[in-house]
Amino acid sequence: MEMMNRRRGLLFGAVVLAALAGVIGMARGRDARAQDQKPARPAAPAAGAAAADDPAVERAREQVKMLDDLYKNAVVSITKTYVNKQDDRPAIMIAKDVFAAMKKKGWHSARLVDATGDPLSDLNSPKTDFEKEAFGRIRAGETYFDRVVGVGKDRRLLAATAVPVVMAQCAACHGDRKVGDVLGFLRYEIPVK
Ligand code: HEC
Repeated sequence: MEMMNRRRGLLFGAVVLAALAGVIGMARGRDARAQDQKPARPAAPAAGAAAADDPAVERAREQVKMLDDLYKNAVVSITKTYVNKQDDRPAIMIAKDVFAAMKKKGWHSARLVDATGDPLSDLNSPKTDFEKEAFGRIRAGETYFDRVVGVGKDRRLLAATAVPVVMAQCAACHGDRKVGDVLGFLRYEIPVK
């Protein structure tokens, strides 16, 4: 009797295992079929959005990151070292000189754009469609925004990186603002190649 029970138990176990294996197999098959149905190529990205897996776009993004660190560190360092009162020459004027030199040499274009709606110089208001879109996004709290424009040799990465009040000295000239408030953004235009 005991022997019978053990056998039955084993048989029952085997049936359960077989059933489980069947279910798993079916599920696997379904997954595999689902995979097969996926298009071979990823769907085309929305117009203007940069392809995430394009190495040339990634290189341009890296360049933006590097330039952003360079420009922002230089502005902070110049401000710390030389800018003490409101009628001192602001570091941004030096950055502007460097932006112009880099553009003249054909490396990239960079521009400081207002995001307060009330800039110290109207020349710094957003001008292009990209700058106007970045204005809205940076004000809404985004710290980075980019898009690829042009085709072939004319492909460029447009990018915007937030410029907050990073130190109390910024507020000395920029009015009633506290550290952390967004003042503007740097807008880059870099060849994608
Ligand atoms: C000594 C005064 C002074 C200080 C300090 C200063 N700025 Fe400015 N900033 C200016 C002036 C003047 C302009 C307009 C320059 C121009 O003619 O384009 C400006 C322009 C800007 C703009 C473009 C929008 C606008 O208002 O025209 C941003 C963004 C900005 N500064 C951020 C900063 C940050 C961040 C700091 C601190 C690291 C800072 N500034 C420190 C005087 C100053």
